[in-house]
Amino acid sequence: MERMIFLDTVPSTNDYAKDLARQGAAHGTAVMAKSQTAGRGRMGRSFLSPEGGLYLSVILRPRERAEELMALTAVLAAAVCDAVEQVCGIRPGVKWINDLVLDGKKLAGVLTELSLTADGYVDYAVCGIGINCNGDIAELSPQVQEIATSLLVHTGKRTDLEALAKVMASRIVRACDTAVREKTVWMERYRKNCVTLGKTVRVLGAEPYEATALNVDGDGALQVRTADGKIHKIFSGEVSVRGLFGYI
Ligand code: BTN
Repeated sequence: MERMIFLDTVPSTNDYAKDLARQGAAHGTAVMAKSQTAGRGRMGRSFLSPEGGLYLSVILRPRERAEELMALTAVLAAAVCDAVEQVCGIRPGVKWINDLVLDGKKLAGVLTELSLTADGYVDYAVCGIGINCNGDIAELSPQVQEIATSLLVHTGKRTDLEALAKVMASRIVRACDTAVREKTVWMERYRKNCVTLGKTVRVLGAEPYEATALNVDGDGALQVRTADGKIHKIFSGEVSVRGLFGYI
């Protein structure tokens, strides 16, 4: 059974969990908060974290070399979908690489951060999830409303945040424990869930371009084809993708 630390508000559960990990906290230690004042997203973005959401970070100690865990981010996204389905009865899609979506809008974001030892092993990973559960979408700015949704909008029911956090933490730990041995199965699940595949996307990096999303490989990289027929491989640390006519 994982240890769960419950907080009302915190700057960032990922930063809190990283401090605990540096002090030696065990595999499976989880931190949940009802709001964050300095939530962080991928690629240095901030992550709006008002009350109504669940902000959860889980410390993982996979005892693997970093190159064995290229697919971890994707595996964890699939596990988070499993948890939402188990607790709330609806299965979100995944916008590559690990935004959870419902009906074309963002429901949750996942930020996985790794710390390595000098010999290339993972010292610890922190998997952080921010998911809009019971938030009132009408309170968000018009720009955010255009791309964001909540579980409440789709289920009509309030989610028990602690219950969801417990299931999520336990599924994340199990996913981490099987990420290498059962990678093929996890990636097959991920592809089935991935709403980006088949779409024309804009690849946002130093030089943005348009391409068709073809596949996600066994390590979680997105394969896209540009109009000149060339195939490009996109790794999650480098870029994000956006739909041409909306968020997906
Ligand atoms: C993204 O959408 O770019 C990822 C967002 C990840 C947000 C979660 S909320 C819990 C944890 N604490 C943080 O500061 N970030 C993650």
